[in-house]
Amino acid sequence: MELTGRTALVTGAGGGIGAACARRLAAGGARVLVVDRRGDLARKVAAEVGGLAVEADLGEPGFADGLPDEPVDIVVNNAGFQHVAPIEEFPPDVFATMLRVMVEAPFLIARRVLPGMYARGWGRVVNISSVHGLRASPYKSAYTTAKHALEGFSKTLALEGAPHGVTSTCVCPAYVRTGLVEGQIADQARAHGIAADEVVEDIMLRPAAIKRLIEPEEVAELVAYLCGPAGSFITGVSLPLDGGWTAR
Ligand SMILES: NC(=O)c1ccc[n+]([C@@H]2O[C@H](COP(=O)([O-])OP(=O)(O)OC[C@H]3O[C@@H](n4cnc5c(N)ncnc54)[C@H](O)[C@@H]3O)[C@@H](O)[C@H]2O)c1
Repeated sequence: MELTGRTALVTGAGGGIGAACARRLAAGGARVLVVDRRGDLARKVAAEVGGLAVEADLGEPGFADGLPDEPVDIVVNNAGFQHVAPIEEFPPDVFATMLRVMVEAPFLIARRVLPGMYARGWGRVVNISSVHGLRASPYKSAYTTAKHALEGFSKTLALEGAPHGVTSTCVCPAYVRTGLVEGQIADQARAHGIAADEVVEDIMLRPAAIKRLIEPEEVAELVAYLCGPAGSFITGVSLPLDGGWTAR
């Protein structure tokens, strides 16, 4: 299998896209470190994929010191969350936490694992960005800011990592069928002043040409491709899985 012998660290791997990535990378032969702030979910997925559960909250200072001390070949920076509110009502502490979890944590993880990747001459960093790393939407100021920042970090890592065999890419999905999307329907309805059952059609699917949610497994498939041999020349780019959203 193409990922045999590789160790992958996947953040937010207790559910949604992260769990799908953990399953797909394990199916490709990788040992997976299943990182999540929910230890129960991390343990469930780790047991399923024969990996190691790591309970860690990426918003906590010093979390990186608690990561397992073993060589990591692949990092999937996936942990994230959403908060929907107009800027003038957006809680400053939530804004700061979102930047810590979705921007600072990928930087701190890279800082920790890059020396080993450089020494071994091989590494893959895949950042789960979003169509909101490429486009903005109202009421998602922190999320759009964090994802745009992650895009910048990924490009810089690509330039620094290239001489050492390390690639860095962003994967940019539109709306994926996960708990994160379920959880924002009521907030989107409130912010836009529409009924909850209108949110999927009128807000989430309106910008995309293909009118359906993406499945987490479809995102994981692209992640696995980038981590395998076929991904070796793909770096510093952002790959939209957006059903045509950014074609407009
Ligand atoms: N669902 C979508 O429509 C969508 C679209 C584009 C991008 N994304 C991105 O994909 C990533 C995963 O989203 P999802 O939809 O699978 O979300 P999800 O809510 O289904 O799962 C997120 C996982 O991350 C964990 N997590 C959250 N905060 C954490 C923290 N501080 N430390 C450690 N673990 C933490 C949660 O416990 C959960 O298991 C996010 O970065 C999100 O921005 C999602």
